[in-house]
Amino acid sequence: MGAVVAESLSKKFDSFTAVESVSFEIGEGEVFGLLGPNGAGKTTTIRMLACIISPTSGTASVCGSDIRTEPTAVRRKVGIQTESPSLYERLTAVENLEFFAKAYGMTDQSAIRARIKELLEFFDLWDRREEKVAVFSKGMKQKLAIARAIIHRPPALFLDEPTSGLDPEAAKLIRDLIVKLSRLERRTILLSTHRLEDAERICDRVGIISRGRLVVTGTPENLRIKAAGEAKVEVMVNGSASGYAGAIEGLPGVSNLAVEGNKIVVGTRDPVGTTPEVVRRLVGAGAQILAVRPYLPSLEETYLRLMGETAG
Ligand SMILES: Nc1ncnc2c1ncn2[C@@H]1O[C@H](COP(=O)(O)OP(=O)(O)OP(=O)(O)O)[C@@H](O)[C@H]1O
Ligand SMILES: [Mg+2]
Repeated sequence: MGAVVAESLSKKFDSFTAVESVSFEIGEGEVFGLLGPNGAGKTTTIRMLACIISPTSGTASVCGSDIRTEPTAVRRKVGIQTESPSLYERLTAVENLEFFAKAYGMTDQSAIRARIKELLEFFDLWDRREEKVAVFSKGMKQKLAIARAIIHRPPALFLDEPTSGLDPEAAKLIRDLIVKLSRLERRTILLSTHRLEDAERICDRVGIISRGRLVVTGTPENLRIKAAGEAKVEVMVNGSASGYAGAIEGLPGVSNLAVEGNKIVVGTRDPVGTTPEVVRRLVGAGAQILAVRPYLPSLEETYLRLMGETAG
């Protein structure tokens, strides 16, 4: 059974359905990304799973605890970073982390101090530790909010747009941290993001959510293949490619053929089965092959295509 299991989760605000029958499973140690446009229902889904709001119908379990019947246990097992950083502006960075360490049940003072130092140094905030959060920049607050979420080393982490508002260096720091927490420490991570390159780089699986519904889930690569329908293979030859296309025209498996300068672009549903014969024939026709490159659309292209299909 997955570490996070959502079963037909729905949330209505009055008569408006923000999340509609969303189901997915996240394995232990897995990073699962929720992608979707503004207002799709990502934050609402995360808040239900973290027991901040209750679902209108459906249920979920987090690390074995039911969100409806065992909310206290769920809150203990989850570290959460939400859109509006829930920090006390009038407290310093250290005071904030101290407060939340205790709220999360940490009691050993020296362990708390050591953990706070470790986190503030990691996030490059140690020098600013005695300043009130009110004077922090947006990115500094974001980093502190993530430190807050992981301070008690929870087995599950829910991060709502963890890299938003961060500079490239800080965004990389967070991505690397997420990967480390999942791969090395087997923590289960649910995140939402608008950055498709982040999803592509760090998520084991992603779910695309649109208008409250989970449209599709899969590995980033899987989604790209699914949306592409057919793969493309680019063959680059020495000199103009126009004389060689004839050698592979009508070849079984080749569904599309285009010549662009010194490149032949082969469309195929079966790149593994088709590519070797394409290469053999081109060589037979006298082509000097410089490169053979399979091409799949990016997750971004896939996402935009799926959004286009679900709109309207
Ligand atoms: N407390 C609330 N009361 C009424 N409507 C709400 C409430 N919270 C969320 N909604 C609505 O539910 C829908 C989903 O909102 P949600 O915040 O989950 O979207 P999101 O996918 O996180 O979007 P974004 O990418 O902009 O953060 C929106 O239409 C929003 O207006
Ligand atoms: Mg949101």
